[in-house]
Amino acid sequence: MSAGAIVRKIAGPLERKLCAAYRAVFINVHRCTEQIVQAIPENAYLIDVGGGDGEPLNYLLRMRPDVTVAMLDLRAQIGMFLDPDVRERVTLHPSTSLAAYRAQAGRRADALLVSDVMHHVPSQGRAVFIRDCLALLKPNGVLIVKDVAPGGLISHLGVLADRYITGDRHVALMEPSELVALVEGSGDLRMSGVLLDRREHPNFAIAFQGPADRLA
Ligand SMILES: C[S@@+](CC[C@H](N)C(=O)[O-])C[C@H]1O[C@@H](n2cnc3c(N)ncnc32)[C@H](O)[C@@H]1O
Repeated sequence: MSAGAIVRKIAGPLERKLCAAYRAVFINVHRCTEQIVQAIPENAYLIDVGGGDGEPLNYLLRMRPDVTVAMLDLRAQIGMFLDPDVRERVTLHPSTSLAAYRAQAGRRADALLVSDVMHHVPSQGRAVFIRDCLALLKPNGVLIVKDVAPGGLISHLGVLADRYITGDRHVALMEPSELVALVEGSGDLRMSGVLLDRREHPNFAIAFQGPADRLA
């Protein structure tokens, strides 16, 4: 069991508050979500890849009442922090890889959100991961990747927390330019927008779209 899992178990009913306080060290979720939702098409069916506890999705779904979500994650327990007012717009797919989801899903997404997942994917598996993501997206869909750039105290603390609290020894941050090269080298999607302003650094989020839908 990771140190994080032990702390969560001990925290019991305080778990959600503890997680919110922890998250607030690294990101202003409300402000970042306000900027990210701008890239989501109207009435989108969105796949939240690696959705985790679902806390950031509460913000997204309240800001965008038109959006419905399928959340998938390798973890068995997901979406436990989703609030009742948004919960019915989310379908949960725990213990589900991208390939497994693709095999069972009847529908491709208008938008794909990959938030703070890339740095957990081992470096040698990232190209396949992105290609698996693209296979779930409609040809005119938008891929949104939010992550944390390396360098600086907050990024460093985040890596240490992921390694020693979450227990993920493979964690490795990537530069936004590396992400752009990876996605653009994996198919015909191109960067269509940089979504977070400088206040959110080291957090960054980039939108990618196919040729017909790219912003001028
Ligand atoms: C740091 S959490 C991010 C959770 C949420 N997206 C957020 O922004 O708060 C990373 C999540 O990605 C999941 N994950 C990692 N690799 C994955 C993969 N290949 N496919 C699906 N989920 C994955 C993990 O299980 C974990 O729940």
